[in-house]
Amino acid sequence: PTPDRVADLLGRMRVEEKIGQMLQLDARDDLDDQVLRMHVGSILHTSPERIVRAQELTAETRLRIPLLVGEDCIHGHSFWEGATIFPTQLGLAASWDPELLERVARATAIEVAATGVHWTFSPVLCIARDLRWGRVGETFGEDPFLIGELAAAMVRGYQGTGLADPTAILATAKHFAGYSETQGGRDASEADISRRKLRSWFLPPFERVARAGCRTFMLGYQTMDGVPITINDWLLTDVLRGEWGYTGTLITDWDNVGRMVWEQKVQPDYAHAAAAAVRAGNDMVMTTPGFFDGALQAVADGLLDDTAFDAAVGRILTLKFDLGLFEDPRTIDEERIRTAIGTAAHAALNLEAARRSLVLLRNEESMLPLAGGYAADASGRASGGDATPRRIAVVGPLADDAQTQLGDWAGGSGQAGWLDGQPRAMITTVLDGIRRHVPENWSVTHAPGAEILTLTPDPEGAFFPDGQPRPPLVVPADPDEWLIEDAVADAVRADYVVAVVGDRIELVGEGRSTATLDLVGGQIALLDALARTGTPVIVVVLASKPLVLPESAMNAAAILWVANPGMQGGRAIAELLLGLIEPQGRLPISFAAHAGQQPTYYNQIRGQHGDRYADLTQRQPFAFGEGLSYTWVEYEGLALDADTVPVDGVVGAEITLRNIGERPVRETVQVYVSDLVTSASWTDQELKAYRQVDLEPGEARRIRIVLPVADLTIVDAAGVRVVEPGAFELRVGRSSRDEWAQRATFTVA
Ligand code: IFM
Repeated sequence: PTPDRVADLLGRMRVEEKIGQMLQLDARDDLDDQVLRMHVGSILHTSPERIVRAQELTAETRLRIPLLVGEDCIHGHSFWEGATIFPTQLGLAASWDPELLERVARATAIEVAATGVHWTFSPVLCIARDLRWGRVGETFGEDPFLIGELAAAMVRGYQGTGLADPTAILATAKHFAGYSETQGGRDASEADISRRKLRSWFLPPFERVARAGCRTFMLGYQTMDGVPITINDWLLTDVLRGEWGYTGTLITDWDNVGRMVWEQKVQPDYAHAAAAAVRAGNDMVMTTPGFFDGALQAVADGLLDDTAFDAAVGRILTLKFDLGLFEDPRTIDEERIRTAIGTAAHAALNLEAARRSLVLLRNEESMLPLAGGYAADASGRASGGDATPRRIAVVGPLADDAQTQLGDWAGGSGQAGWLDGQPRAMITTVLDGIRRHVPENWSVTHAPGAEILTLTPDPEGAFFPDGQPRPPLVVPADPDEWLIEDAVADAVRADYVVAVVGDRIELVGEGRSTATLDLVGGQIALLDALARTGTPVIVVVLASKPLVLPESAMNAAAILWVANPGMQGGRAIAELLLGLIEPQGRLPISFAAHAGQQPTYYNQIRGQHGDRYADLTQRQPFAFGEGLSYTWVEYEGLALDADTVPVDGVVGAEITLRNIGERPVRETVQVYVSDLVTSASWTDQELKAYRQVDLEPGEARRIRIVLPVADLTIVDAAGVRVVEPGAFELRVGRSSRDEWAQRATFTVA
């Protein structure tokens, strides 16, 4: 059994081998030195060649302990050419479908495991609250309940039936905790966050996956109450290991241990930093080469004794034994690569995920589906329907931008940008999709119409912690120069304009927060000019996160929001515009009308006097949970089983849904609960459950809702999560802001 094997091996390890086992280093650096001198336990940021070389080197070491290979495969394999790149996490979250996300994670694991990678740094459980933060697109959005549902599903998908399964990979819950509660949206700034606030919103999704067996947790960069997360005893020992009983493995974020010396300056040198990190219960130290000599020095100086590393090394070896790496290091497997990577089945799943990620936000006078909608013929082309030939102008700088469509952490398009990019033929852009799917007799023109940014070298030099060059600066746009008139000329002659605007990879990601949320470059000028043509404009906002939309977009005929939708995104968008599929996505995050309005999440603490600006409404243009269909569903007859329920009981209710339109729908029925009077301030409503219900045109269905009262908690002033007896309101509707939501009150006795 694993514990015996761990104890046996630990007993044979020298102190420097134990220290090395705790290190995960960047495989782009000197691999020989890392494996042979530092005895590293793990590498990340690999390539096929580096994986093979690292395994060869490991065979030359005294104990031949296999390496763990980690990578940020967060929406598909991040560095394998030809791998399936799915929508980003925020796009997947718009599906609100845990079962779909589990399948996406499973497919990713199958592809990743075939390439010698054992560990993905996914999913991200941070709550996105300030949209200026560069990593919003890596999250599941703003709601803790939805995040917990989706994260648990992805963990199940990655880890499969258990680590003994050769297609299982380790999942990582990150970044524990409060990393997203930035100041001004700036990445990794000190999180000024109380323990009550953490317990209320930020910790519950982590608790859920900790208890569900997520094998690893990654610790955020930042400090909290002056103490770096890396050595935060309260969070790591009292809460995670103590209260939640977590026995998994902790990994730091990039150079967290070194940062305590050179950046945060809370440790005088690497010996003290290493000692503090080991004492705090860290297991794997990511990319701090100085940890090796620092820890040895700490032993020499008596800050740590030889056995101080045993618990951490034991946990790392446990992962390796559970994965079976001593018997089979699970290196690159050519046969599996041929049959597992970029398969037709994964492409089909990817298309399903892309379709589910699209959120229709505006559809004036049923502009969509175009020309009343079509059905797909055998080749997927729109047919039947209105036979009038039409002209469609596809414009905007993102209409044919394959790499932006993939998003961050995908080969060639961002932080994993050492690849040249995924094969263009695997990616369907919006332009490709429209060309392939419009009816035979339509004509399609294309002109970008505007640029997003130009790039200049950065005088300040290195930016990323791993020394990658800083992304070039964005030169502020002079809208007149950036507008290209061809697109407007096309628009004048067209029946419809599809304008694809948004952000680009250089504007988002780790260390790339933005001060504004505006469409940059010539995009606003383009949308304004298009609006003046009088041709109906469908605005496709292809953006990693919600952006502030100008008036010309807000008044357009239709608005579709799409987070980076992956390889099949352009096809899914074209299908939606033509009515070959139904819009189903719902916002996992609220939009803002202005960057200065942050934050705009729906579940803010109620009753804040003055909670609006003199010059701007605080109302979000689009709120959490919103999203339109091509039909309308009526909600009727909400009835509770009982008006009074005991604290250990369940709230049961029924409601009728009626599809009153002419198209089928998958309706996302959202159940919010308001605790009407609380002993400490609380939000006015929280999402507590939801169901997705398929309804044919004209169909009515009565559905049942069941909520354990134990879930109707608040965190009281002492920081304890409790159910407070008293009056509650149940709201069942289409979004967090549904004025027609059905309501009923009940008492918890
Ligand atoms: O996994 C990431 C993390 O999310 C941010 N810093 C770098 C890590 C490894 O690439």
